[in-house]
Formats: sequence, C-alpha cells, structure tokens
Amino acid sequence: MFEELEKIRQQCAVCQKCPLGATRTKSVFSAGVPNNKIVLIGEAPGFNEDQTGEPFVGRAGQLLDKILESVGFSRKENIYICNTLKCRPPNNRDPLPEEKAACREYLDKQLEILKPRIILLCGKVALTSFMDTKEGITKLRGRWFDGPHGEKMMPIFHPSYLLRNQSHEKGSPKWLMWQDIQEIRRVYDTLK
Ligand code: URA
Repeated sequence: MFEELEKIRQQCAVCQKCPLGATRTKSVFSAGVPNNKIVLIGEAPGFNEDQTGEPFVGRAGQLLDKILESVGFSRKENIYICNTLKCRPPNNRDPLPEEKAACREYLDKQLEILKPRIILLCGKVALTSFMDTKEGITKLRGRWFDGPHGEKMMPIFHPSYLLRNQSHEKGSPKWLMWQDIQEIRRVYDTLK
C-alpha cells in the first residue's frame, strides 16, 4: 500500500497536467495514516499547504485537527487526509472544473489503493466532486450516502466555514459539526 501511494505522490510532485503545476511551490498529496477505514477529502491546498507540502496545516487545519481529536481521530494514528486538488489555485480561488478533472485520476488512485470504508467529504468542493446534487452542504452534511464502491460517505462542513461562524449554540454550524463527528466515530467503531 505504502509503495503504491508513494509512486503516485512522486507523480503528483512533478505533475504538469494542468496550469497549477507551473504556479505551485509544493504539491500536497496527503497526511495521516494510510488505512482502509477512514479518509477525509478536503478542497485544495492553501498558502501554508503549498509552502509545506502538507494538507490542512493553516488555521482551518488546526481547527480540523481539534475536531478530529475530540473523538480520538488523529493524523498520527488513524485517519488519512487528502484533497480534491494536489496543487494550490492562485489566491485560493475555487478549483476550476478542468483542474478537478485533471487531478481526479490521482484521488481515484488513492482511494482505489486504500479502499476506505468511510469517506468524509469536507466542504462543497469535495461534496460536488462525488455527488451530483443541487443541494448544498448545509442540507446534506451529517447524512450517510453510498460511495462509488460501497463506502459510507458523509459530507461535513469545511473548517474554514466554521472559522467564519464562531457560535457554539445549538443548531449552529460548530454544534452540527460536533454531532457529525460523534456519529462518524460511532460508525467507525462498528467497523471490523
Ligand atoms: N483547505 C483544504 O480544503 N485543504 C487543505 O489542505 C487546506 C485548506
């Protein structure tokens, strides 16, 4: 598993399939532990990720780690984290359809190798990469869907959105995230 993933990581590091190859500092392949249980898919690298080559290391990433750790998930122990795009879009703009299409092969290979039982679609970009829907993340978050290979897939809020919505009140985005991560942990614990 590790060797196969390493090969793809190396391909991404020199990839020029779309124009982001020319503007990136570092490609951002994954963090965490390759495993067949749980994978989180975010959007695309931002400034800090582009500099370090690690996904989710900025403010949003720190919040994500806190959320995961609140139920015992961590990139050191049990979760694998990646993005729909491996390279940073300039000025953190939304990924373009053609960039997503060019990069999809790498994400699909990652999932094919890992065969995770749970996929977390973190934010709108990941959601629309896997689900053909007009509904937004607010409507779909917290619900389980069938993934392309029988995985359990759940859309969840992106931590950047939570940073813009600081309330912890019942029904707020942060409160909902807390419900969702507990449900995710519950289902994770039923996996053999
Ligand atoms: N936001 C994402 O979606 N992914 C990252 O890696 C960093 C910020």
